[in-house]
Amino acid sequence: MPSSAPTSGELALVGAGSLGQAFAGLLARSGQPVTLLATPGTLGRLRNAGTIRLRGVVTVDVPVARAPGPAGTVGVTDDPGDLPRGGAVLFATKGHHLREAAAAVRAAWAGGDEGWVGGLQNGMAKDDVLAQVFGTEAVVGAVTILGGERRPEGEIAIASLGCTYLGEMGAGPAEPSPRVAAAIARLRAAAIPVEAPPDIRTVLWSKACNAAGVFGVTSVLRISTPRLFRDPHLIRAYLGLVRETAAIAAAHGVPVGDYTNFPIRTYVTRPDEETVAALSQKAFLAPAATGGVESFASMTQDLRAGRAIEVDDVFADLVERGERVGVAVPRLRLVRDFLRGLDPGHQPS
Ligand SMILES: NC(=O)c1ccc[n+]([C@@H]2O[C@H](COP(=O)([O-])OP(=O)(O)OC[C@H]3O[C@@H](n4cnc5c(N)ncnc54)[C@H](OP(=O)(O)O)[C@@H]3O)[C@@H](O)[C@H]2O)c1
Repeated sequence: MPSSAPTSGELALVGAGSLGQAFAGLLARSGQPVTLLATPGTLGRLRNAGTIRLRGVVTVDVPVARAPGPAGTVGVTDDPGDLPRGGAVLFATKGHHLREAAAAVRAAWAGGDEGWVGGLQNGMAKDDVLAQVFGTEAVVGAVTILGGERRPEGEIAIASLGCTYLGEMGAGPAEPSPRVAAAIARLRAAAIPVEAPPDIRTVLWSKACNAAGVFGVTSVLRISTPRLFRDPHLIRAYLGLVRETAAIAAAHGVPVGDYTNFPIRTYVTRPDEETVAALSQKAFLAPAATGGVESFASMTQDLRAGRAIEVDDVFADLVERGERVGVAVPRLRLVRDFLRGLDPGHQPS
């Protein structure tokens, strides 16, 4: 059933995995109302456990309650009709589950005129999927580098709160739109680092460059992210993928930028050997800086756990975007094919 009263601006999460639980738990801890839409199996597990547990750079235990939950709880449900009317729905499913999840929400959610959606997925495909399902105007660009991982015991290991970026998809005005400003205020009140960049497309493409490099190297080799950045050979492989992705962005008219932990503009403008020297010195991903969590990229986590990976949402999509604008993408294509060969979701039946 749709909620009866409009709850403008309230944030809700779809997908009760690493990111969904992390965002919902932090919002609830700050006393804000938050709804988390889970699959029936995970809803049952969350109800049995009674709490969402975040560990690592934060230690948070938040009770769950049937949505809409009282203040200080995460309201959990498996019914998209329980999502707040006029609220903001952030999708935190894997890319390969996004279309189905979005269609289910579209069919049951009373978003109203003020409701909007954003996608936290890696890759450039998610905003097209959301625009096809909800319409272009309903989509706010979103990027997060919060680092989380589901543990078998049910807790979410948080290696970093990173930063979350929100912005309207057009080049847009210099100031954030009212709906983006409201969401930023809510996330900030939950102690989630957040920014409204002048052009979210620059962040989206810069994150895509980093994801192509990190996933491309660490997933194929099944190694941790710090292991990549300790090895000059692997840093060179990373930079090759970053440069190819940045060339696609440029052909789409979007310049890459410099952001904390992914200064992509610097990487593509200075000689690679300077970046190799600079990155080899860095300790930003050492266990001491991540609350003791050994940091594996999400695609690498999935491969190690035998789960389907987002190879099509990230690599096949980039290859297609490159080919459409005539940019040569041999590295991305090679990684796409390696990863399809490793992906349990692509095994011949
Ligand atoms: N984790 C990170 O550090 C991180 C950082 C930045 C970006 N990302 C991106 O964010 C996305 C989510 O990553 P994640 O690590 O949070 O994934 P995850 O832990 O696998 O969580 C995905 C969740 O979505 C749920 N789901 C699938 N279909 C659904 C549906 N139709 N309705 C409701 N829920 C549904 C899954 O259900 P089940 O519980 O039944 O499996 C699962 O709980 C990915 O695209 C990832 O690349 C992740």
